[in-house]
Amino acid sequence: MPPPSSDSVQVLLIEDNPGDARLISALLEHATPLGLRVSLQHAESLSAGVERLRAGGVDLILLDLGLPESSGLETVQRLRTHAPHLPTLIVMSGLDDEEVAVQALQAGAQDYLVKGRVDAPMLVRAMRYAIGRHQAEEALTRELERSRELARERAGRLQAQGESEGLRRLLEERDEMLRLLAHEVRQPLNNASAALDAAAQAIAQSGDGVRPEARPRLVRAQHVLDHVIGTLNNALAAATMLTAGDTGSVAEVDLDAFINLVVHDIGADVRGRVELVSQSELRTVQLQPALMRLALCNLLVNALAYSPAGTPVRLKVTDREDPPSLCFEVTDEGPGIPPELMPSIFEKGTRGPNAKAGTGAGLGLYIVRRVVDRHHGSIEVLPRVTRGTIVRLSIPQGIEA
Ligand SMILES: Nc1ncnc2c1ncn2[C@@H]1O[C@H](COP(=O)(O)OP(=O)(O)OP(=O)(O)O)[C@@H](O)[C@H]1O
Ligand SMILES: [Mg+2]
Repeated sequence: MPPPSSDSVQVLLIEDNPGDARLISALLEHATPLGLRVSLQHAESLSAGVERLRAGGVDLILLDLGLPESSGLETVQRLRTHAPHLPTLIVMSGLDDEEVAVQALQAGAQDYLVKGRVDAPMLVRAMRYAIGRHQAEEALTRELERSRELARERAGRLQAQGESEGLRRLLEERDEMLRLLAHEVRQPLNNASAALDAAAQAIAQSGDGVRPEARPRLVRAQHVLDHVIGTLNNALAAATMLTAGDTGSVAEVDLDAFINLVVHDIGADVRGRVELVSQSELRTVQLQPALMRLALCNLLVNALAYSPAGTPVRLKVTDREDPPSLCFEVTDEGPGIPPELMPSIFEKGTRGPNAKAGTGAGLGLYIVRRVVDRHHGSIEVLPRVTRGTIVRLSIPQGIEA
């Protein structure tokens, strides 16, 4: 199924309550003025929904958790059983089953919305974001699968060449461990991060009655988790997607949706420091979304970590002609990259005295360079007269993939 273009979406609403269905369809009528063309189909039961899904063409499901045949988390699980290759899934929950909704994220939903608490702009934003995230996750899974395939081929070749059985087994073992990290560790970590986000939001909304120390502790936990996820993603990228010989595939990506995803990759506690300056005239761009997302995330995380708390970090997106390219610039107001690091700044393991001991692996900028190389682009650290760091990536456009 081709990916949905992010301004035209086939939505399947699975909802038995006629009042709720009317409400959501009324909200979706406001989607067009907000730049999202929605065509809506409505199924009143899970079985009708499954049947409709089998016919194909659905980009996004809005799923009520309380249906005649099932309720709560079971609804998501049953949907998954009957339709294993689900499109983007957003769960609609009542106020009293928010906890279940968080579990639904773990079961594969991209987001959950509490009925009666969403307006049209929120719904449209959630839909765009959920679709983007779903696409990026699928792209990552596909890339990991490709790299497994390559590793298997390599192992096969080695065997055919009569290379040692031990080496072949080693490669297989490595492949198995990477798969374990990618699926069994990365996914639960992402889920834990989403659950912490939801808990932080709930605390922010509940105001009084919550012990004041709860919030900073939660923020700290989120921070630690974000860091672990970041390092894991970098290590996986280095070990799989960026292995020699795998050239990966470039996709046509909606630029706004892509940037939205990048910004959402940044921990909620520091995301507010990111200022977006989007001056590109392009609506869609050609890049490898999962990898480029990781690269930009690494640059933003550095800029946020190595500049004073509270100072802004800017992500600027522009176009260049001659040759046509897309530029990303990340600017911060910190002390700048220590000059002695500059000769090896894009090498694996380079770390400065400003890096916190015990955290990080000096992988961030190495991965950025590898990703840029894969796009046949360029990366430079621009000189700054007074303070701060500017890193600029140029990614060629208009080249046949
Ligand atoms: N925006 C920045 N301002 C100041 N120093 C920076 C900046 N970005 C990177 N550095 C310096 O460059 C070093 C290498 O950065 P890199 O992202 O590769 O690794 P890291 O941040 O130390 O670890 P990791 O990214 O694996 O968590 C950092 O340790 C830091 O000293
Ligand atoms: Mg870093």
